[in-house]
Amino acid sequence: MSLRDYIRKLDAQGKLAHVSAPISKNYEIAGVLKKLEPRPVLFEHVVESSFPVIGNLFCTKASFADYLGIQVSQIIPALANAIDHRSACQKVAAGPCQEVVMEMPDLDQLPILRHCVNDGGNYVSSGVVIAHHPALGQNVDFHRLMQFSRTEMAARVVARRHFDAYLKDLQQVDVAVCIGNPPSVLAAAATSVAYGIDELEIANALEPLEVVHARSVDVLVPAQSEFVLEGTVYFNRRHAEGPFVDLTETQDVVREEPVFVVRVITHRKDAIWQALLPGMSEHKLLMGMPREPTIYRKVNEVVRCLDVNVAPGGCSWLHAIVQIDKQNEDDGMKAIQAAFAGHTSCKHVFVVDRDIDIYNPQEVEWAMATRFQGDTRMLIKDKEPGSSLDPSAEPGTHLTTKIGFDLTKPLAASGKTFDRAAFPEVDLSRFLEKEEQRGSHK
Ligand SMILES: Cc1cc2nc3c(=O)[nH]c(=O)nc-3n(C[C@H](O)[C@H](O)[C@H](O)COP(=O)(O)O)c2cc1C
Repeated sequence: MSLRDYIRKLDAQGKLAHVSAPISKNYEIAGVLKKLEPRPVLFEHVVESSFPVIGNLFCTKASFADYLGIQVSQIIPALANAIDHRSACQKVAAGPCQEVVMEMPDLDQLPILRHCVNDGGNYVSSGVVIAHHPALGQNVDFHRLMQFSRTEMAARVVARRHFDAYLKDLQQVDVAVCIGNPPSVLAAAATSVAYGIDELEIANALEPLEVVHARSVDVLVPAQSEFVLEGTVYFNRRHAEGPFVDLTETQDVVREEPVFVVRVITHRKDAIWQALLPGMSEHKLLMGMPREPTIYRKVNEVVRCLDVNVAPGGCSWLHAIVQIDKQNEDDGMKAIQAAFAGHTSCKHVFVVDRDIDIYNPQEVEWAMATRFQGDTRMLIKDKEPGSSLDPSAEPGTHLTTKIGFDLTKPLAASGKTFDRAAFPEVDLSRFLEKEEQRGSHK
């Protein structure tokens, strides 16, 4: 399936909301997307641009799984398998992403959204940045881009990202920023794998992907992308970037960040701009979901792991809930250490037994309330390198205190038991009319 096929499918199923009234790229589109989240929305008439905008496409795991034709429970194995068995994309001579070539680019013609009050500018937030290094090969990741002229943007490049290493080494790097991509490409771009691995090969293992050579820079881009912005990012040319809403839904600070100069824009004839609300569920899903297989793997090395949820309540980044098949008393503690190794930005890990629904925060809290003791079942890792996104981490160093909570029940109960009492199963129709049965489920 292509992104276009998926949009058509959503429309046929009546799941795509259409906004045909004129709407501004400044605040209004973001406001509607936020109000309608997680419903996908197509904005047909953008006041400042001839291109339509689509957003809220992949806000839930269900939508991601639906696109790939798999069950939600198969996402972790599918991602893990794609990382392990990545495969070369098919290279094609021409692709729809180059149907129109703008040799004199003007970013003002694009529906680059202004999202929130106090944002430093209009931002590209769904752009997948593809860069090439002569020794390391192609790298693909996300960098938000703040427009500040008709051809220039400031790129937020977090320290130690692979692209940051490319920039530091080469000082200036040619890139193609691809906008309007299927979730296979988006999720692959959000994985952190070893240097030298082209994440498009991970996308190709999730779903076959054709790539085409960019027009003016030496990288391969998804042939079906809606838009491609080609140009150069300069490490030493800086511009203020921010404020902008980050994953934690708080406003990030202003920094001097590298400048991206756009030289050529290519796009499909009838290109659709892909919006992605910063800090909201689509952003969260794309950040957290690719960490679940890496945590799963590490935990599975020390104890049987059943499932992992990098939960939205923890910004889909700072909290991991890990479900294990506990066999030994120290399995919970082992799982905590392994989970931190599987996601180094994680701040709090919660380990639970198989009877706890890790997608239900109330159940996890119940396990904490009934099975946890702070003096023996908590692992505190004082002042470790943490996430740059955490507003409570030490400014500058991002040092943070990480804590693991073993919420599994002790293997032997020495007083009360740890299991929920089972109520009897009854056939309600024997006792209540249909109407009353329904009421009882409200
Ligand atoms: C929607 C989205 C937006 C992101 N924005 C940024 C960003 O602005 N700057 C950044 O350095 N990382 C950003 N990230 C995170 C990285 O792109 C991501 O962690 C990636 O895996 C890093 O790749 P690397 O391991 O090749 O360095 C974003 C991720 C997502 C999913």
